[in-house]
Amino acid sequence: MIAKKNLFSSEIKEKVQSLISEMTLEEKVGQMSQFDWGFHAINPDAGGEINLIMKELLDKGMLGSLFNLSGVEQANTLQQQAIERSRLGIPMIVGRDVIHGYRSVFPIPLAQSASWNPDLIRRTASAASKEAASDGISWVFAPMIDITRDPRWGRIAETMGEDPHLGEIMAEAWVDGAEVLDSANESLSVASCPKHFAGYGFAESGRDYNTVDVSDRVLREVILPPFRKAVDAGALSIMASFNEVNGVPACANHYLLTTILREEWGFEGVLVSDYNALGELITHGVAKDAEEACEIAIKAGTDMDMHSGIYYKYLPKLVQEGRVDESLIDAAVGRILALKIKLKLFDNAQVNPDLNQSVILSEEHVSLAREAARESIVLLKNDNDTLPLTKQLKSLAVIGPLATNINDPLGCWAADGNPDDVVSLLDGIKAKISPDTELLYAEGCDIESEDENGFEQALAVVAQADVTIIAVGESKIMSGEGNSRSELDLPGKQRELVEAAIKLGKPVVVVLFNGRPLTTVWLDEKATSIVEAWHLGIQSGNAIADVLFGDYNPSGKLTATFPRSVGQIPLYYYRKNTGRPPGGVYSSRYVDAPVQPLYPFGYGLSYTKFEYNNLVISSTSISSSDSVSVSVDITNTGSYNGDEVVQLYIRDLAASVTQPLKKLKGFSKISLLAGETKTVTFTVTPSDLAIIGVNNSLTVEPGSFQVMVGSNSEDGLIGEFVVR
Ligand code: BGC
Repeated sequence: MIAKKNLFSSEIKEKVQSLISEMTLEEKVGQMSQFDWGFHAINPDAGGEINLIMKELLDKGMLGSLFNLSGVEQANTLQQQAIERSRLGIPMIVGRDVIHGYRSVFPIPLAQSASWNPDLIRRTASAASKEAASDGISWVFAPMIDITRDPRWGRIAETMGEDPHLGEIMAEAWVDGAEVLDSANESLSVASCPKHFAGYGFAESGRDYNTVDVSDRVLREVILPPFRKAVDAGALSIMASFNEVNGVPACANHYLLTTILREEWGFEGVLVSDYNALGELITHGVAKDAEEACEIAIKAGTDMDMHSGIYYKYLPKLVQEGRVDESLIDAAVGRILALKIKLKLFDNAQVNPDLNQSVILSEEHVSLAREAARESIVLLKNDNDTLPLTKQLKSLAVIGPLATNINDPLGCWAADGNPDDVVSLLDGIKAKISPDTELLYAEGCDIESEDENGFEQALAVVAQADVTIIAVGESKIMSGEGNSRSELDLPGKQRELVEAAIKLGKPVVVVLFNGRPLTTVWLDEKATSIVEAWHLGIQSGNAIADVLFGDYNPSGKLTATFPRSVGQIPLYYYRKNTGRPPGGVYSSRYVDAPVQPLYPFGYGLSYTKFEYNNLVISSTSISSSDSVSVSVDITNTGSYNGDEVVQLYIRDLAASVTQPLKKLKGFSKISLLAGETKTVTFTVTPSDLAIIGVNNSLTVEPGSFQVMVGSNSEDGLIGEFVVR
């Protein structure tokens, strides 16, 4: 358990109180305002109201926060101005979306989560924060810990998948890594900002920003656990989401922001709105105008207003009219000031401008990017052991629109990434293979167009080569914010290209670059080898080549179910049995498609084979306050050394409330030499067995529990025990 980072030590409390006692109401609401400098930079003379408010606050030295600055010099200059102009010398806090790396871009979070390696996530988050801090940033708007069950939703790329337990572990690790509080003197400390609180991943139809309608049960069992863990891990801030929860948009939702977050969980940090989410309270239809939006948001528990200007404009009036109690403002501004003190911004908000040269793209970060990318890769299919390939091939063809592409592997939300830092797949392969191998390349087609003119040339090189690697998938802007899809197959003519290449009858390896699960059933049926390579960041090509040529044995496992068709969505492993599980007529099925996924949660192959034996449960009957240990022997029966993610699932067979068929409750990533056996032991604690029962309290209900330990959510050894 990571020690909670106390925001309000007595020293900080004292300093906050003394500042507040000297601040005017206008100064307070200025501190509660944050603006996007990038918006201003695009059109500085637009003179729109937001720009005007931002400029006014900057001039008066009252601005709480800016984000999207461009580089350390600008951050230093604006920060210096802020402090000099502020009557009480209050610094700004500079934010940025540092989602999966800064300039050293790591794999998209969905890919990183496939590593099932929280230590890796901790290290990439920490490296990203250090790079950002060297550029004057002390607040990263990450991690995104939304759970989602909908791959149509473009922001699934930014999530760590569908499972609350995995989400908890990853959230904890990410917050711990991203919050760099004791950084070197010359740099800044950094706060994390887990987001989006809450339910944003449950947008109806997978359409970004759409209505969310979830029960309190789903909210508490599935959506909130990662946030709770993030809070317990000491997250210093949280971002409220755009969406509504039970009819009330998050920034206006007292139940979410105050009852749950503050009162139940004891969160002490800053709650910032999402971008113009206060303004959107009007569009949502819960506020008749900006003044009402302002009143609702402050009363619900929103501390900082991101880029609407509404707090600055209306809060003073609302206080003067007695509609908002100033104590609410003091509490909110108190948290913002405490954050700034905690980050030592009052002591030093300037960054040595030369620091970034040694931090950004450091050798350590680039090598971490390669490590993270390799661990994110998931081997989806490998018939006839086509992979790994020998480096001594006589000839090798590489085709497809993602083969030389250095832009799309950066993935969505990589604003500070630079395509020139990216190793393309073709370059990764070139660096790997023997100089004697004849390497042939042709693009074939591009990602989205309907143009087949390049097919002939591409198929000619396929025909000429011993083996072909085809790089296909999505561009980076097909996932991420605002980029939902209604079809989840390969776009454009890529399917046709792959099918034509396979038809030539030579060995073909398909490498997928995508920001979400795809529904490529046809590919699974036709290709012998499929490598899921997501959008892997700057070391994409090297990492994929490491896997293709056997320098790294893939170990990634999917954290989001791959459906067979869009019609199956939402499809997730954590499903319930229903009264009529899939079977014959009048069962929960489709007449025109199977109910099974293309690839289940937790799935991923290796170049070696792992065998599971001897499931032993320490006791067949325990009391509700006891733990039970579950062990299993795993043997590497193949001829390669390899890593395996051993997964433990629990099912409560009969409870006062219907339970999922399986819930992930433990996992362990182990390394096994060829031929080696290891015993993995999990401890299943009462909190793993507890459910929110029919009377809404968390309890371990007596009865039988099933345990499954295996290599994915569908295969494993099963045992049972009873809770008395
Ligand atoms: C996104 C957030 C992001 C914010 C600031 C919003 O549109 O939903 O995830 O942190 O913009 O860029």
